[in-house]
Amino acid sequence: MRCLVTGAAGFIGSHLSERLLADGHDVTGLDVFHPYYPRDRKERNLASLRDRSDFRLLELDLREGDLAPALDGIEAIFHEAAMPGLLRSWDWFEEYMTCNVLATQRLLEAARLSRPRILVHASTSSVYGRVSSCDEEALPRPTSPYGATKLCAEKLALAYQESFGLPVVVLRYFSVYGPRQRPDMGYTIFVERVLRDEPIIVFGDGEQTRGNTYVADCVDATVRAASHGQVGQVYNVGGGESRSTNWVVDTIQQIVGRRVTVTHGPPRPGEQREALAITTKARQSLGWAPRVSLEDGLRAQVEWQRTLT
Ligand SMILES: NC(=O)c1ccc[n+]([C@@H]2O[C@H](COP(=O)([O-])OP(=O)(O)OC[C@H]3O[C@@H](n4cnc5c(N)ncnc54)[C@H](O)[C@@H]3O)[C@@H](O)[C@H]2O)c1
Repeated sequence: MRCLVTGAAGFIGSHLSERLLADGHDVTGLDVFHPYYPRDRKERNLASLRDRSDFRLLELDLREGDLAPALDGIEAIFHEAAMPGLLRSWDWFEEYMTCNVLATQRLLEAARLSRPRILVHASTSSVYGRVSSCDEEALPRPTSPYGATKLCAEKLALAYQESFGLPVVVLRYFSVYGPRQRPDMGYTIFVERVLRDEPIIVFGDGEQTRGNTYVADCVDATVRAASHGQVGQVYNVGGGESRSTNWVVDTIQQIVGRRVTVTHGPPRPGEQREALAITTKARQSLGWAPRVSLEDGLRAQVEWQRTLT
């Protein structure tokens, strides 16, 4: 199958591209190398992809220009490109609005004309809001511009499905982690601090909980959504272990074999208090289940970050 992965130079998009190639598909990666984090990090993400004959990279901004050539002959679209992260969305609203909403609308419009077999849209648990321990029926109440723009994007995707029959499946990922995690994300920062023997600041009391998703599990759900997902449906994708930030910080220190000073700062505006996906729907429809325990996944992330220092 010929696949397009938007955001292919990013954390999840690069893993997804590798998985699709391993499954025997041809992959076109599309990315603008948004300066949200440094290009060299994204070039590293692409290291195993760049030289392959079954992979090509288009450096393109979804917000402008003609997208038709990128979609020509594409059978499956995986839309991972976005401005992620909650904190910066308060200050950088225009980038979130354009990369999450306008870019998605332009991709959907081009896809309406190119008629792919499937479009898998990556959304987020942040659409649910402060308490995100729920199934897909919960009323979305985003508490950040990030969550609000991502909710708008998934609603647009479903509007194209409803109005034009575009075969869309929406996935709501819950806190993805593992090798190549973005440099702004909490676990990357915690691991980096412990490896450098520097103090850690935990926002809030550290008792906020997450059901983190290991990146290979997230990718597996995404691939399955393309073949088994029901068009027009939304699926939660999340790991099954609910752990607090304090537990994660402690576990990282155990894995590295070093203790650092841990202090607490003010809570971040818009942060989720708890987020544990109820994944019954994905398990039943996609035949998917998370496989990697948080401890094993953190171990893999630590090993990867050791290679960066
Ligand atoms: N990482 C997580 O924990 C998480 C959780 C929930 C949802 N998601 C969603 O998963 C997707 C991937 O997230 P990630 O963590 O890999 O982020 P990432 O920033 O590592 O990857 C996103 C990529 O999209 C590209 N991009 C942004 N705007 C673009 C544009 N206008 N045109 C072309 N490319 C553009 C960026 O350059 C980047 O390489 C996003 O849609 C995000 O909202 C991520």
